[in-house]
Amino acid sequence: TSLQNLNTFGIAASADVLVRLTSTQAVQEVASSAILRTPQGALRPSLVLGGGSNIVLSGDVVHAVVLKMEIPGMALVEETAKHWIVQAGAGVRWHDLVEWTLQQGWGGLENLALIPGTVGAAPVQNIGAYGVELQDRFHSLDAVDLRTGQVFTLDAAQCAFAYRDSVFKHVPAQAGDFGLAGQAVITQVRLALPKQWQPELGYLELQRKAESLGIAQPSAQQVCDWVCAIRRAKLPDPAQIGNAGSFFKNPTVTQEQCRDTIAREPKIVYYPLPDGRIKLAAGWLIDACGWKGKTLGRAGVYEHQALVLVNRGTLGSCDNSVTGGEVMTLAAAIQTSVYERFGIRLEPEPIVV
Ligand code: EPU
Repeated sequence: TSLQNLNTFGIAASADVLVRLTSTQAVQEVASSAILRTPQGALRPSLVLGGGSNIVLSGDVVHAVVLKMEIPGMALVEETAKHWIVQAGAGVRWHDLVEWTLQQGWGGLENLALIPGTVGAAPVQNIGAYGVELQDRFHSLDAVDLRTGQVFTLDAAQCAFAYRDSVFKHVPAQAGDFGLAGQAVITQVRLALPKQWQPELGYLELQRKAESLGIAQPSAQQVCDWVCAIRRAKLPDPAQIGNAGSFFKNPTVTQEQCRDTIAREPKIVYYPLPDGRIKLAAGWLIDACGWKGKTLGRAGVYEHQALVLVNRGTLGSCDNSVTGGEVMTLAAAIQTSVYERFGIRLEPEPIVV
């Protein structure tokens, strides 16, 4: 099965086996079926695919069983004194959930508008943008344990959210280790949306919009419109130019590590963190090394945002498509030049398969 239309980079890899999952029960069934089990009963490696917007298929064939998540549904499931609790199926498009909640009059997700991908993928990397992270609105989720077929529920603490990270990104080396990567499939996600809604305008670009329009108290829908406009201006639309969003995480360094760098590079963009460490803008580091707009093979660095790698082949074409190898070669070249110039190691942000 070709995966080219199932990953937003448009990498022309294929899967040995692909199973579409449209209900929690279907996930439970596949967990115990011969598709996911060896003759001895052991679990085969699997890869859950949502919108395919945060993965890089680095090889030509995926041997893991691809589980394509398609569980639908959005509903209000609970109302507390302070929150609306909404639940969505893991296969729902994230932006559809943002729009639906705004239509109901419930603010809270507007800063996360237009993030590609599905609801089920959102907790995996704790999606974040414009000053809000998923964990700020998260209530709980349901998942199926592939080893037992049982449904279990996790709250925010159990998900171990961190910057672009959660328990679902960690691979347990042996039984009992921290991490659920490859062992659990998220089926439902619940979010807590505040009844006493306040706009989050801490992010500089949103402040500027508010000031230029003279609107100090925008509605949630207005914030959503601003975020969409900002994103459209600097992030490529995967329907037109294949990409996987930010390709690297913004690295966190100690003050000692970066004191020299900041002294040598006065223009470097950095954000002091509450714990005393410093987060650097990876996009700036890559840009400063001259990579913006460059191309290597059919992989390129987006001209409006150096943190985004793009497919310069033809989307959907079988003979002029970027390969996972070309993307990884470009990524490695960028990592090398940033390391040589700044002594900082960039880590990929999407999951590299
Ligand atoms: N910059 C440059 N050159 C560039 C790109 C950025 O100099 O080519 C500098 C800019 O001066 C800017 C700073 O770097 O002030 C930061 O750039 P930006 O505001 O665009 O944000 P980012 O750190 O590049 C992060 C997230 C995005 C998210 C935006 C907005 C990560 C890895 N990326 O990008 O998330 O949309 O902030 O909140 O944290 C994603 O995760 O896939 C993603 C797109």
